[in-house]
Amino acid sequence: MGLLSQPFVPKCSLFLILSLFLTRCVSSVKQPCLYSERSALLQLKESFILKKSASGHPKFGSWKGEGEDGGDCCSWDGVECDDSTGHVTGLDLGSSFLHGSIHSNNSLFQLHHLRKLDLSDNDFNGSKIPLAIGRLSRLSHLDLSFSEFSGQIPYEVLELSKLVILDLSGNDLELRKPSLKSLAERLINLKHLNLDGVKASSTIPQSLANLSSLTYLSLEYCELHGEFPVDVFQLPNLQYLSACDNTFLTGRLPEFAKNTSLEGLGVARTSFSGELPKSIGNLKSLRGLQLRDCNFSGPIPTSIANLTQLTFLALGQNEFSPTTLSWLGKLSKLTALELDSTNSKGDVLSSLKNLTMLNELLVSQNQFSSRIPSWLGNLTRLVYIDLGVNELWGPLPTSIFTLVNLEVLDLEINHISGSYNLESFLNLKNVRHLQLASNNFSLLTSTVTNVSVPKLTYLTLDSCNLLEFPNFLSSQHELQFLSLADNKIHGLIPKWLWGLSAETLEVLDLRGNFLTGFHQPIVVPPWTNIRELDLSSNKLQGSLPVPPASIAHYYASNNLLKGEISSMICNLPSITLLDISNIACGMLPPCLGNLSNHFQY
Ligand SMILES: *[C@@H]1O[C@H](CO)[C@@H](O)[C@H](O)[C@H]1NC(C)=O
Ligand SMILES: *[C@@H]1O[C@H](CO)[C@@H](O)[C@H](O)[C@H]1NC(C)=O
Ligand SMILES: *[C@@H]1O[C@H](CO)[C@@H](O)[C@H](O)[C@H]1NC(C)=O
Ligand SMILES: *[C@@H]1O[C@H](CO)[C@@H](O)[C@H](O)[C@H]1NC(C)=O
Ligand SMILES: *[C@@H]1O[C@H](CO)[C@@H](O)[C@H](O)[C@H]1NC(C)=O
Ligand SMILES: *[C@@H]1O[C@H](CO)[C@@H](O)[C@H](O)[C@H]1NC(C)=O
Ligand SMILES: *[C@@H]1O[C@H](CO)[C@@H](O)[C@H](O)[C@H]1NC(C)=O
Repeated sequence: MGLLSQPFVPKCSLFLILSLFLTRCVSSVKQPCLYSERSALLQLKESFILKKSASGHPKFGSWKGEGEDGGDCCSWDGVECDDSTGHVTGLDLGSSFLHGSIHSNNSLFQLHHLRKLDLSDNDFNGSKIPLAIGRLSRLSHLDLSFSEFSGQIPYEVLELSKLVILDLSGNDLELRKPSLKSLAERLINLKHLNLDGVKASSTIPQSLANLSSLTYLSLEYCELHGEFPVDVFQLPNLQYLSACDNTFLTGRLPEFAKNTSLEGLGVARTSFSGELPKSIGNLKSLRGLQLRDCNFSGPIPTSIANLTQLTFLALGQNEFSPTTLSWLGKLSKLTALELDSTNSKGDVLSSLKNLTMLNELLVSQNQFSSRIPSWLGNLTRLVYIDLGVNELWGPLPTSIFTLVNLEVLDLEINHISGSYNLESFLNLKNVRHLQLASNNFSLLTSTVTNVSVPKLTYLTLDSCNLLEFPNFLSSQHELQFLSLADNKIHGLIPKWLWGLSAETLEVLDLRGNFLTGFHQPIVVPPWTNIRELDLSSNKLQGSLPVPPASIAHYYASNNLLKGEISSMICNLPSITLLDISNIACGMLPPCLGNLSNHFQY
């Protein structure tokens, strides 16, 4: 799952910041810093406590007020001065572990000559952006990202008319009054605007298309709605545009002119619709295209084959018309390819031979039908393979077991045939998700030793012709999902299974085996987070086990259970589905009659 949610970040932002601030001139006589500004900095230092976090670099170590005129604050870590006047013009306190509230009376706001202020990645404890920010009227660069600011963005930020770079992303901020429209009308010099996570809750104003200097625009998770103004795509200098994760934002991709400089384009998880224009092939500089989970339709244009700089291509979960994608091999720089549920068919895998940089391959839920080629094992950077729910057939090449970096391997619901040692899969030491269910193969468990198996969170082995519970499971403590349904497991459920991964397991599916009972009489098993337990279609005898309080769905039908059912079953606070139909002559507790008709018994 990790890779699916990876942020869509072509690395152009860093480049922009550097290029904008390395162009200052150096004059001959260098002035030391001013006394008043040095003492403002020292007060600033006193106003926060340092809270260590995983990454970062505290800058205050060099900030000392020693001696009559103290150190030259222009040489302090993170402080930049104008050499000719000695004024502090830049303050970079990004990732400096600052913790505490920041108010308008903070001495920071006495530094009137600041042009560049970076307070990103600190913890200002839910402070509002202080109104005094408006006093820093020379600011061209303001970065307050990921610093625990909250509340409405004040008008004072919109008064910083010289701003070229503004990054307010990753906070709990609002931009309602003033609005995104006011911002776009006032900050007309912006080149770089990142408002990810800022709740604008509005349409995208037409005035945004007037910001002709914009090279970088990111508006993810802004609660935007309405139609995306098509002119914004045509901004002449735009290199990066993302409006991902605005569910109610509608729009269409326009015709793209030749020679555009767009390197990153994302509208994933919006309501964008219509066909992808053929002219998308004109975006020759494109490195990332993120269009997943929208309402796009029509064919996937083959002109995408011309986007040879692409490293990230995500088209998954759209209603494209059925298509083969034999041109994919031209995109030899791809590191991530997401084509899940795109109505694609044929032999996509054979076109991937050239994609030696791939680390994510997600092509599930299509009609791909071919063997799995043995050279797949040559794509050694693969971390994530999801081929699930296709028509793949033939044996699994053993080369797949050499992909030691794999964290996710999903082959579920195909027609792969043969017999494999479960141990071969468990030799993939980094694998977390292993989904092998519902193919046409047998897994042999006999050779599995318990040494050094991976720590799985998600395992499906349905219909794998298992004859016994794989005993490596007994040392798995982090499973969230385990399905062993429709195998040939006979006999008693071992003691260790009953409570396996006690704190993490959410779903356990043992349906469709030949289980007869429990090695140990059970009162309530110790799972604390289990939501779904399926014991149905076995040969369980004795009395019905009562699941833990967290259970939502409980299936135990088609067994040989006997005896009175404990009235504890009526006191499960979260249960919404209880299926105990077709159990032989059980005595139902009268309290069941009071429960809702979701229940079958
Ligand atoms: C952070 O805010 C909380 C309440 O909002 C307050 O109790 C706490 O003292 C603050 N911490 C600091 C370091 O200012
Ligand atoms: C700054 O203002 C805040 C809030 O108005 C107040 O709590 C704090 O004591 C003030 N700090 C100083 C140093 O005056
Ligand atoms: C865009 O800028 C032009 C010229 O500055 C102005 O006339 C127009 O009203 C602006 N459009 C919007 C939508 O703000
Ligand atoms: C790729 O670009 C070339 C030259 O710009 C063009 O002739 C060709 O038709 C394009 N291919 C596709 C599939 O659009
Ligand atoms: C693989 O790359 C080679 C050389 O870059 C190219 O000639 C060939 O057409 C590519 N194969 C596919 C299937 O695109
Ligand atoms: C895969 O790697 C093997 C061993 O390095 C090599 O012999 C084979 O030619 C490679 N296959 C492809 C298709 O590159
Ligand atoms: C299942 O695999 C066997 C060989 O192991 C093969 O004969 C059979 O056709 C396969 N069935 C399906 C439905 O693919």
